[in-house]
Amino acid sequence: MSNQNDHHEASQKPPGRKEMSRRQFLTYTLGGATAYMVSGAVLPMIRFAVDPILHKGSKGNFIKVVEVSKITNEPQEFSFELQQQDGWYSSTATLSAWIRKNDKGEIVALSPVCKHLGCTIGWNNDKGYPDEYHCPCHGARYTKDGKNLAVAPKPLDEYTVKVDNGWIYLGQIVPNKHVS
Ligand code: FES
Repeated sequence: MSNQNDHHEASQKPPGRKEMSRRQFLTYTLGGATAYMVSGAVLPMIRFAVDPILHKGSKGNFIKVVEVSKITNEPQEFSFELQQQDGWYSSTATLSAWIRKNDKGEIVALSPVCKHLGCTIGWNNDKGYPDEYHCPCHGARYTKDGKNLAVAPKPLDEYTVKVDNGWIYLGQIVPNKHVS
């Protein structure tokens, strides 16, 4: 009888310091893993939420991004901010473009959104494939003009470009017109 009571009391005891820290450890570990997985799923969703705004953005909306004099034949990444107004809610999204001058002297501004599942590509960031865009998520690769070489089903999209008074302005994102 006393054994049963002892057992009952033991199970009712508040958890000791060691047990708490183990529980905390599990909580933090599971919480961290969940946050990591959720961020992996949510970031592309945010990307896809912002993307349509750019795709359907009004034709007159251009954002001043960088001076033409800074553009070379080598792609460089430039960031800029897009103000969004959705009814009463306004927000700012930071976007980026890989901009360069092609062999014809045209300014080409590529979207950094991978055409596989929406991760962010980088230029010359895979030593095994120099002078290409590479996506770290599943290994998509693109040429300097954005032509898809592996994994991705389509070329990288591009921004519409306007040059005015020595500055580059970027507008809507449209399908890539510089590759066949
Ligand atoms: S999202 Fe870029 S390779 Fe899959």
